[in-house]
Amino acid sequence: MSKVVVFDHPLIQHKLSIMRSKETGSKDFRQLLTEISMLMGYEITRDFPVEPVRIETPICEMTARRISGKKLAIVPILRAGLGMVDGLLSLLPVAKVGHIGLYRDEQTHNPVVYFCKLPPDIQQRTVIVTDPMLATGGSSCDAISMLKERGCDNIRLMCLVAAPEGIRKVQQCHPDVDIFVAAVDDHLNEDAYIVPGLGDAGDRIFGTK
Ligand code: PRP
Ligand code: URA
Repeated sequence: MSKVVVFDHPLIQHKLSIMRSKETGSKDFRQLLTEISMLMGYEITRDFPVEPVRIETPICEMTARRISGKKLAIVPILRAGLGMVDGLLSLLPVAKVGHIGLYRDEQTHNPVVYFCKLPPDIQQRTVIVTDPMLATGGSSCDAISMLKERGCDNIRLMCLVAAPEGIRKVQQCHPDVDIFVAAVDDHLNEDAYIVPGLGDAGDRIFGTK
């Protein structure tokens, strides 16, 4: 069974509380999402392997440590996942970025695929899938399946707010994928929105409502 990491760091919780408020506009919402993504990225990469490397400082030679192992890809689920990319890229500037476009059908709440563009060597990379909202889990599960169909075997999922239903679904469909979230909320409402949540993340990022 995969691991679920809930970030209870005060900085993350403080920023998330501002994002949740309906008074917060798109500019601040985007900025806070970027800041939280950077803070989460610090922890998500904590277990990355390092290797010794001989370098010369201005004073003497030494053995320092550098990240080794697989290269990285960040794969946002469009649209809202885009809001988490810049924060991660500021920590991981050489990561490649792929895109998976999915929207939820308003009636069925099932995800519909409309776009997929990934780095050609995606199967050789550690992949961080980003989406602020893990509601029913349908979008994340399908995006992860698409990556696995292309040979990816090292995937982690980074979300902001999750419903227990979404976490259960991802754990069932993809027990190998660790899930990183800032908060696990109470439940889904009849429209499959997270309660208390923060509303429609894509609309709040892009000001489309
Ligand atoms: C939202 C959100 C997730 C999905 C979560 O996207 O960004 O991708 O819903 O719901 P689920 O866990 O029930 O699948 P939406 O379909 O609203 O598209 P958008 O990001 O383009 O607004
Ligand atoms: N998508 C969102 O943007 N918000 C929710 O609460 C659920 C799905």
